[in-house]
Amino acid sequence: MGNVIILGSQWGDEGKGKIVDLFSERFDIVARYQGGHNAGHTVFIGEKKFVLKLTPSGILRPGKKAVIGNGLVIDPAALLAEIETLESMGVDVRANLSISNRAHVLFPAHRMMEKMSEARPGRVSIGTTSRGIGPCYEDKTGRRGIRMADLLDRDFFRAQYDSVMDEKVVTAKAFGIYEELDLPAIREEYEAFAERIRPMVCDTALLLNEAIRAGRTVLFEGAQGTMLDIDHGTYPFVTSSSASAGGACTGTGVAPTRINGVIGVSKAYITRVGGGPFPTEALDGAGDQIRARGNEFGAVTGRPRRCGWFDVPLLRYTANINGFDSIVITKLDVLDEFENIPVCTGYRNGGQMLQEMPPTVRAIEKIEPVYECVPGWNTSTFGISSYEELPRKAKEYLAFLEKQTGVEVGCISTGPERTQTIVRPGSRFAKLIT
Ligand code: GDP
Ligand code: IMO
Ligand code: MG
Repeated sequence: MGNVIILGSQWGDEGKGKIVDLFSERFDIVARYQGGHNAGHTVFIGEKKFVLKLTPSGILRPGKKAVIGNGLVIDPAALLAEIETLESMGVDVRANLSISNRAHVLFPAHRMMEKMSEARPGRVSIGTTSRGIGPCYEDKTGRRGIRMADLLDRDFFRAQYDSVMDEKVVTAKAFGIYEELDLPAIREEYEAFAERIRPMVCDTALLLNEAIRAGRTVLFEGAQGTMLDIDHGTYPFVTSSSASAGGACTGTGVAPTRINGVIGVSKAYITRVGGGPFPTEALDGAGDQIRARGNEFGAVTGRPRRCGWFDVPLLRYTANINGFDSIVITKLDVLDEFENIPVCTGYRNGGQMLQEMPPTVRAIEKIEPVYECVPGWNTSTFGISSYEELPRKAKEYLAFLEKQTGVEVGCISTGPERTQTIVRPGSRFAKLIT
């Protein structure tokens, strides 16, 4: 067992939160490496439901340390609201959470700027979470972003904030998206937030590397999914950060030489929120059935998730990008009532079969999924916690996915609770995590 990355292998909402919460017990520290409060990770512990947006899921384990890495964009208002909610539910956040001094700060004006891409005629609307994530990352790569350390530096922050916000007002007015924002009042509000956050802010790259040198273990938690990754996803229908395995290194300052394994989380089917291509989307009653059984509604925006069938070429693509040692298949129970389960095993483009994920939206929209139907098991798998107890046909479904994708299915989730999980004895997953 060493340091392991757990990340999404589809378009997000694969159940990462549940899996990270469950296995964080075996690690000393859980570190988030990218994204912001666009993420929504739902974790059930007994009767309690937690929705984590910025805080790593490991925070729910008493005594475990949680880190928000430099790769995130943080709205202090959202972070403090989340901390308050968690503390009201009995979670001791402040004693265990460290926030990178190099993470970027997200301001209300970033939400206004999001209308540049989402609400202007002639631009392709991505269907974002409207949290200002993209514009904040734009400021980061545009080298005008404000980082946590800058927010805490009172004299520097005032001048920098005023200059960055002036530019936004000019641009927003020019493009007709300006909304009245009391920018000086917001500055003062964020200065007050800074004082509440200050005790948690530090050099988290140093913290993590020193911990690793001292023999402690880190679980790196991804948000979103590989198909939403800024480089490897279905561009431009992606988020603005590196959700894939490489992002764990750039987003925390821990080198690839310190990482011992990568685990992908995938649903037994697939979902997507927002716009963009989705070859195996089930636009018939089956999609509605999956949505209803799987309660597929966004944890952040409440939007219905688009639902469809497991896509083998997509999983092979994300396995290649991330070098998965093993995958977790979640929400197997959602497929309990299907007579037959279609699985996409290839794409057809005109008369040709495609082996690779096309690089453009235009090309993906042209491909046709080729399905193989696997018999359903028609009995409940809900809550099963031992592999042996799974119905034979459910095991055959998992074996089919394993054979087709070429990646081990090391863990299976059969319900939202911690106990509703199967770890396959002798698997690479078991070796990495236990
Ligand atoms: P994340 O963003 O990847 O953490 O996933 P979300 O939390 O957005 O969405 C996954 C949803 O499925 C959550 O509501 C979980 O409680 C729920 N969930 C996770 N695993 C299972 C499972 O095996 N079966 C069922 N029925 N629900 C699950
Ligand atoms: P978790 O961590 C699913 C999607 C949005 C939109 C696109 C860009 O819970 O898996 P953004 O606001 O990031 O600029 O939106 O990405 N998206 C997600 N979809 N799960 C998420 O997070 C997502 N975070 C962003 O719906 O299509
Ligand atoms: Mg989610």
